[in-house]
Amino acid sequence: MKRVFNFSAGPSMLPQAVLEKAASEMLDYNGTGQSVMEMSHRSKAYKPIIQKAEALVRELMGIPDNYKVLFLQGGASLQFAMIPMNLAKKGKAAYIDTGTWSVKAIKEAKKYLTVDVIASSKEDKYTYIPKVDKVTGDYDYVHITLNNTIVGTKWNTLPDTGDIPLIADASSNILSEPLDVSKFGIIYAGAQKNLGPAGATLVIIRDDLIRTADSPDGDLPAMVPTMLRYDTHAGEGSMYNTPPCYSIYVMGLVFEWIKEKGGVEAIGKMNREKAAILYDYLDASTYFSATTAKDSRSLMNIPFVTGITDEAKADEINKKFVAEAEAAGLVNLAGHRSVGGMRASIYNAMPVEGVKALVEFMKNFEKNNA
Ligand SMILES: Cc1ncc(COP(=O)(O)O)c(C=O)c1O
Repeated sequence: MKRVFNFSAGPSMLPQAVLEKAASEMLDYNGTGQSVMEMSHRSKAYKPIIQKAEALVRELMGIPDNYKVLFLQGGASLQFAMIPMNLAKKGKAAYIDTGTWSVKAIKEAKKYLTVDVIASSKEDKYTYIPKVDKVTGDYDYVHITLNNTIVGTKWNTLPDTGDIPLIADASSNILSEPLDVSKFGIIYAGAQKNLGPAGATLVIIRDDLIRTADSPDGDLPAMVPTMLRYDTHAGEGSMYNTPPCYSIYVMGLVFEWIKEKGGVEAIGKMNREKAAILYDYLDASTYFSATTAKDSRSLMNIPFVTGITDEAKADEINKKFVAEAEAAGLVNLAGHRSVGGMRASIYNAMPVEGVKALVEFMKNFEKNNA
């Protein structure tokens, strides 16, 4: 059996132990004679699967009791719309623009409310996280992209938003290191990076942000579709309609794996060590360099470039790098099309051996091409 080190930004590597467990249970889950894929979501066998996934993520992230955990569909992209649809009361929200995914969130939000972009690092190609100390204003919420998958930055110091709910897209760094959930109104993430297979979206939402027909501020506008109301899903334990059953099951296995590894604290330590191996090499190399400001560096997505200034030549070398890496079993290292260069996504499931193998490969590539 051949397994590669997959540096894809998502969908991405899953822990081998999780894949093996899922494979062993594929035809007969827990003596039911069925695969989890074939089960009714309302069956006696399935209910404990979703309940266990929720209990584990609550335990791992220390999610307070006044938050709901929802397993939804539509990806993080649907949250770009659901958030303003459900949270707009005063009709104004603040967004911080840190790259492509923030831009998409902003574009969608503008359909439902007035958006103030209160900070942006666009003028510097999003290579850093803007410093935002305190946010004040008549805002329904403040939105940030906690980890920027494409440019490889992450928030290290959260803005102080006082009583204004802070909403975070944590698609590419959820469960990568400890996070104080109580600082946020909503945390959301597509599953396909650190959580499991694509198909499910995890939403952690504070109870007071779930508007219902009985809310003191009145109900949501009637035009908000039932499926896009948080209270629909919160009221039915993510079972209003058929949830992404199999994706949730694998998420549960991933949560178990994280727990076995020592929890998010231990995973965070491993992720810092993994990222340091690559950043230290990039900082020392005279051929490759990291593209992001040191105080904003992501632990999960690490873009890098050669110093070649001739665009055509750089392009050619980048292609050569990606092809030779692939032949060496290190796949999906091309940078995002909007940034160029290379990018290594080293999510929780990437073992330290994968990062070491990449650095060894880069050292050789540097020697042969510099
Ligand atoms: C930070 C971030 N937000 C949002 C998205 C979009 O997620 P989805 O494809 O689940 O809609 C991505 C996808 O890569 C992402 O990295």
